[in-house]
Amino acid sequence: MKNKKILITGGAGYIGCHVVEEFIKANYLVTVIDRLSFDSNSLNNLRDNKNLTIVKEDLRDLSNLESHLIGVDAVIHLAALVGEAACKISELDTISTNYDATIKLCDLARKNKVKNFIFMSTASSYGVQDTSEIANEETKLNPVSLYAKTKIDCENVLLEKFSDDIDITIFRPSTVYGHSSRMRFDLILNHLVLDAFLKKEIKVFGPEMVRPLMWVGEPARVYKKVIDSQDSKFRSQIFNMGYDNENYKKIDIAKLVQSNFFPEINMDIVDKDKDLRSYRLDFSKMKKFFNLEPGSNLLNATKIIVDNINSKKYGDLVSKKYYNT
Ligand SMILES: NC(=O)c1ccc[n+]([C@@H]2O[C@H](COP(=O)([O-])OP(=O)(O)OC[C@H]3O[C@@H](n4cnc5c(N)ncnc54)[C@H](O)[C@@H]3O)[C@@H](O)[C@H]2O)c1
Repeated sequence: MKNKKILITGGAGYIGCHVVEEFIKANYLVTVIDRLSFDSNSLNNLRDNKNLTIVKEDLRDLSNLESHLIGVDAVIHLAALVGEAACKISELDTISTNYDATIKLCDLARKNKVKNFIFMSTASSYGVQDTSEIANEETKLNPVSLYAKTKIDCENVLLEKFSDDIDITIFRPSTVYGHSSRMRFDLILNHLVLDAFLKKEIKVFGPEMVRPLMWVGEPARVYKKVIDSQDSKFRSQIFNMGYDNENYKKIDIAKLVQSNFFPEINMDIVDKDKDLRSYRLDFSKMKKFFNLEPGSNLLNATKIIVDNINSKKYGDLVSKKYYNT
């Protein structure tokens, strides 16, 4: 049987590196399109693999885009300006990258008879919620940023306009944590670990705010199940991505980092956070369809980051390449 061909946009990014590795390990033919905004070496460990093609291109540059879709079985679309802060820099760039390029890519995928189109939306779309309630996929969305708004607009158009012709599967993932060969230190767990290491202090803003988290390798495992599926059960579906036992209060994440790895340092608690997002998610739909157990956890992931910092694997810890702004 011929190897399946996958196109991964944003494959050199934080989540993307894990996704590329997962599919290369399983002998897929993988093409990555990424403009390599942060780290041009993040896929170095796989660069020589004969099944991997890395195309350094901006997704908004349409001159070659269609040629990369020929013979492709599935598109995993990760490329985006990621996070509220990155999207605040330019509204135009945010809309052209996160919205226009997504719609164009899906249109070309449909034209080229691609079977699956996987879109990474965001759980930030739930915005500020009453955390005594748990948001499932039917819960009314309440985006508080342009980032989340562009993702919701994509969700709507993808399902309304393309889902008759292509299997669209949409994920609203938890915030991810852990090591990746494109590392990010601007996400909650990774950031706390870095602060503990560099500043000898952990500062927690909005300690009671709730945030669903998930290991950064998790999306790769989930996409693999979608693409390997013989039926269309994932077609036109939206899933919260994560696990019910990973809805954390920020203070509990901080305590875990401090007590297990940095017992000698202080914790500074600031009641208010300018980031208003607080939400608790229901992952029962994902459990029902995917039946996966978490591939890692906060403790293991923190240990790996701490070990990597201690062994100087990341080099300059405040290098711009570790931050999305
Ligand atoms: N990290 C999280 O916690 C999280 C949570 C929810 C959703 N997501 C979504 O998952 C996806 C991946 O996020 P990530 O954390 O890996 O982010 P990331 O910033 O590490 O990766 C994004 C990649 O896309 C590339 N890219 C950006 N604009 C591009 C363009 N115009 N053309 C080509 N490449 C471009 C960047 O170079 C980068 O390598 C995004 O769609 C994001 O919205 C991430």
